[in-house]
Amino acid sequence: MYDAINSRYTYKGTDILKNKLDIKDEELLKEYETRIVAFKIATISTANIPKEYTPERLKFIHKYLFEDIFFFAGEYRLENITKENFRFSEFQYIEENIKTIFDNINIPEMKKMPFNEFVKKISYIMTELNVLHPFREGNGRTIRELVREICFDCGYVIDWYEINHDDILKVSKKAIFDETEQIKMLRRSIKKIK
Ligand SMILES: Nc1ncnc2c1ncn2[C@@H]1O[C@H](COP(=O)(O)OP(=O)(O)OP(=O)(O)O)[C@@H](O)[C@H]1O
Ligand SMILES: [Mg+2]
Repeated sequence: MYDAINSRYTYKGTDILKNKLDIKDEELLKEYETRIVAFKIATISTANIPKEYTPERLKFIHKYLFEDIFFFAGEYRLENITKENFRFSEFQYIEENIKTIFDNINIPEMKKMPFNEFVKKISYIMTELNVLHPFREGNGRTIRELVREICFDCGYVIDWYEINHDDILKVSKKAIFDETEQIKMLRRSIKKIK
């Protein structure tokens, strides 16, 4: 997916990410990674997650989810990456830009918002973080976990497993130019806690 052959993160001459399991087969790595991370997602609420919404919290989530697999778990990427011609933020600006995004996450304010406004705000946070793509791999799952936590703290639940993964991918790609479909998806999926 990435132009990754010369990456510091991949095994020489391949686009396979160096990993703690030392798996050099792409499909096998994907299979193990998917299973292990799914297990971590299911257990993260028992972890000591930072209480405040700062960039450290996103790093914590990434570290928790990926620490058994990638050496860079919890660390911002140190190279530029593209997917299907889309170039994510320059890696040098991640630190600075992520602060601005988190400065915008205000739970007491979001709790008071009407539902439609709340959903738009969530969509905006997701898109900004996706464009930033702070980690070399695992951004989608990390961002979705953060969103689940924000929703929970504001009195809502979202179960990402109820949504078709291809739909999540499709709307999040479009959202960079037009958030309408992503907002619709979120409006259907975010539920008030009774
Ligand atoms: N062409 C693209 N343009 C913009 N964003 C993209 C593109 N392709 C993928 N993305 C975004 O990148 C995310 C995937 O990033 P990454 O592979 O780092 O995370 P992941 O957790 O492994 O993936 P996933 O979200 O598929 O579970 C997707 O969820 C999507 O939002
Ligand atoms: Mg991925």
